[in-house]
Amino acid sequence: MSSMDRRTFLEFLGKSTVGMIFIPPLLSSCTSDEWKTIVPIAPASVDRIVLADGFFYDLLIKWGDPISATDQFGFNNDFNAFIPFDPAKPDDGFLWVNHEYIHSGFVSGYWGKGAKSREQVEKEMYAVGGSILHIRQKRNGAWEVVKNDPLNRRITGMTDIPFQWPTPIYGRTSAMGTLANCAGGVTPWGTFLTCEENYDSFYGERDFQTGGLKPGSDKWYEQFDNPPEHYGWVVEVDPRTGAARKHVALGRCAHESATVASLPDGRVVVYSGDDANDQCLYKFVGSEPNTLEKGTLYVADLEAGKWLPVDFAQQPLLQQHFADQTEVLIRLREAAHLLGGTPLDRPEDVEIDPHTGAVVVALTNNLAKRNFYGSILRIEEDGGDHAALHFRHDTLLTGGPETGFACPDNLAFDAGGNLWFTSDISGSYMHKAPYEDFKNNALYVLPRQGPQAGQILRVAVAPTDAEFSGPWFAPDGRTLFLSVQHPGENTGRPDELTSHWPDGGDSIPRPSVITIRGKALDELQMSFE
Ligand code: FEO
Ligand code: CA
Ligand code: CA
Repeated sequence: MSSMDRRTFLEFLGKSTVGMIFIPPLLSSCTSDEWKTIVPIAPASVDRIVLADGFFYDLLIKWGDPISATDQFGFNNDFNAFIPFDPAKPDDGFLWVNHEYIHSGFVSGYWGKGAKSREQVEKEMYAVGGSILHIRQKRNGAWEVVKNDPLNRRITGMTDIPFQWPTPIYGRTSAMGTLANCAGGVTPWGTFLTCEENYDSFYGERDFQTGGLKPGSDKWYEQFDNPPEHYGWVVEVDPRTGAARKHVALGRCAHESATVASLPDGRVVVYSGDDANDQCLYKFVGSEPNTLEKGTLYVADLEAGKWLPVDFAQQPLLQQHFADQTEVLIRLREAAHLLGGTPLDRPEDVEIDPHTGAVVVALTNNLAKRNFYGSILRIEEDGGDHAALHFRHDTLLTGGPETGFACPDNLAFDAGGNLWFTSDISGSYMHKAPYEDFKNNALYVLPRQGPQAGQILRVAVAPTDAEFSGPWFAPDGRTLFLSVQHPGENTGRPDELTSHWPDGGDSIPRPSVITIRGKALDELQMSFE
């Protein structure tokens, strides 16, 4: 990190003018003399997880593990979020896990030859969506899934999910399933949000100029006649009942994430990136407390520092191009660009700094613009008010050989306010120019305080072809839930597996959730005297 980057980061962490929102409790305090520094690890090309000293991991659950008498854990787990049943007992509760997409060979045995059968498509539909799990921490500190607990459920690509909207969406009031579930969020009323990101690979996408369908690579439309308009939404799931609904008011795009901020009057704001080259950043501001059913969707204009309402009633320009607000929301990308939303370099995860209220956005890369390494954007809302219509912004960190990371994707703040992020160098570019020196994808932390404040520390390396995703901290900050997604993704033939993680030997790779704990994690969250 250059001295300028380091100073900027320290200023960002320590002196932001944004209002204080919430400061989680720190574990204890120590002096700089007592602080054990973390020795960051080097890039690695290995088929296992490498961790810096002071951290260790346990495997919590992997693809195919039974969670009940009838259901199994899905494929390519991404977002994780934990909600305790009782805030006073933070070691026992619901873990929600997204299952984003499939590797047809592993999931359905379809290796690209001939037509995919209905049975194969059904297997793939079962593998996506999400898992609701009852998990708890044992006396020795390790976490376990409570097997066969009646609370354990699957939501899949076949679950009937109603639209939360007054009129039907493309002729129906509910969709068949959810898919492409990437990142998400948690509401203050104890539900999970899961985002449908690259939905077009399953049922394709409509060309709104011609009305024709652009096919998707997974070809589910050959077996099921579901319109693309039924996907690309933010889905809310109540873990107590398993009930889910698609919130049309939040718009339709390749939603990466749905990060929730609470307003003092009980309304919520949801930030979401649309992960594709030159797509936009959005925020939804609810108009009533404790619900996402009604509110206004805005798109970010970074040049003017303004949030622009994507609202048919307020925007004559939208009235010229669309029939009504339903069409605006279905064709959100087109509406956002018409209004002057700023094209960004793949806006992915969004997090809110718990100490300053600043909104932090991962901009992964934009290969078409030769932005190979990506950056992390910071937005400060006027007066620290998440409902504000004006903001300032700057670049918090820039990826590249000098800073040691590339393609930031998921973000998380821990209880000590340290910023963690994962890298997502795509499988087709990993180990090739200009990414070869970064080797496998990794997990990084930027300590907020102490002698390593502002340094970018690589603390974990993922197995072959995998990315780490869905970082989420337990309420006490002493466990990091983390997905190990798509190990062995570049496998093209069943007899040429590129990874055997986690079971080793000749086994096929299995995406899994791990828990990272350790003295180094505890120490990172101590306050300084
Ligand atoms: Fe599913 Fe943009 O990552
Ligand atoms: Ca992502
Ligand atoms: Ca990703």
